[in-house]
Amino acid sequence: MSSERDLVSPDAEGDEQFIEAALRPKRLEEFIGQARVREQLSLVLQSALRRNRPPDHVLMSGGPGLGKTTLSMIIATELSVPLRITSGPALERAGDLAAILSTLSEGEVLFIDEIHRMARPAEEMLYLAMEDFRVDIVVGKGPGATAIPLEIAPFTLVGATTRAGMLPAPLRDRFGFVAHMDFYSVAELEQVLDRSSRLLAVRLPGDAAHEIAGRSRGTPRIANRLLRRVRDFAEVRADGVVTKDIASAALNLYEVDAEGLDRLDRAVLGALLRKFGGGPVGLSTLAVAVGEEPETVEVVAEPFLVRQGLLARTPRGRVATAAAWVHMGLTPPPDAFGASLLVDLGDDLGQI
Ligand SMILES: Nc1ncnc2c1ncn2[C@@H]1O[C@H](COP(=O)(O)OP(=O)(O)O)[C@@H](O)[C@H]1O
Ligand SMILES: [Mg+2]
Repeated sequence: MSSERDLVSPDAEGDEQFIEAALRPKRLEEFIGQARVREQLSLVLQSALRRNRPPDHVLMSGGPGLGKTTLSMIIATELSVPLRITSGPALERAGDLAAILSTLSEGEVLFIDEIHRMARPAEEMLYLAMEDFRVDIVVGKGPGATAIPLEIAPFTLVGATTRAGMLPAPLRDRFGFVAHMDFYSVAELEQVLDRSSRLLAVRLPGDAAHEIAGRSRGTPRIANRLLRRVRDFAEVRADGVVTKDIASAALNLYEVDAEGLDRLDRAVLGALLRKFGGGPVGLSTLAVAVGEEPETVEVVAEPFLVRQGLLARTPRGRVATAAAWVHMGLTPPPDAFGASLLVDLGDDLGQI
């Protein structure tokens, strides 16, 4: 994939993981936004500390880049216990999980990232471990096989998933607390950017932070990434001074627009509007028009366009909303999808 696409991808790419580690808040107090999750989690942790027992298992669900890994590290830090990190895809066999579980120390936090991608046998072993702090190790094969029960130290499982719906119910039910992570508001992202700019020793005025936050798709990971690109631009072109105009010029150069749409997003919307009059048009036709695979359009571009209310998936095909026409600087036709919403807004504005 092209580097400009990576700029607004919510996934961490390559070296980014090292840079991210430096920007991670370490304590719950420093964690920005997600007020409800923070308050709920704080109660869970405090009561566990009072009872001197490991807290209930915690499931964190939400899109990439919203802070799930960060929060799992915070949980271990707040409890002053060690943290073991693994991921669903790494747990192919039950033995992989048994090896980890049997060496956990008392109270340790076990973080399983992408827990929905764990293999079935490991998953079944995990049920028992979560509930009874015990695993059955199967020795031998066929009729002669025996299960040897093995006690494991009480631990706290923290699972993270971008696809909570894909978790089997028996697994989901064994979590005492489910944290739903939402997208961040622009104001919250401004705080993330303010904090990161201090850590990166970049002077970032409030209006410049606002400019970057608005283009960050509700995602701290993207905000931090855009900040680094703006910093690079400012260092080369403006003696390192970041202003609102510099931020906006930098992000325009990288083709991230005012709502966080990148080149592909704009190409999809542009084709939909200019070549198909706003639709409806089938996915494969639309994909051909922008020279991409249908899957790329569907998986990479569309979810954000739909979330922004710029594109709708209808049984007859893809349709641009009236807001999409406006966003692309065009006048929506009167029968555009959702045009009445804009008209209502216009009336409201007229009354002010
Ligand atoms: N609430 C937050 N406050 C400050 N920074 C955050 C927050 N959430 C995420 N980040 C930053 O965004 C980056 C990605 O977060 P991460 O926890 O890896 O996301 P996830 O695991 O959900 O993909 C990290 O570098 C972290 O510093
Ligand atoms: Mg993560």
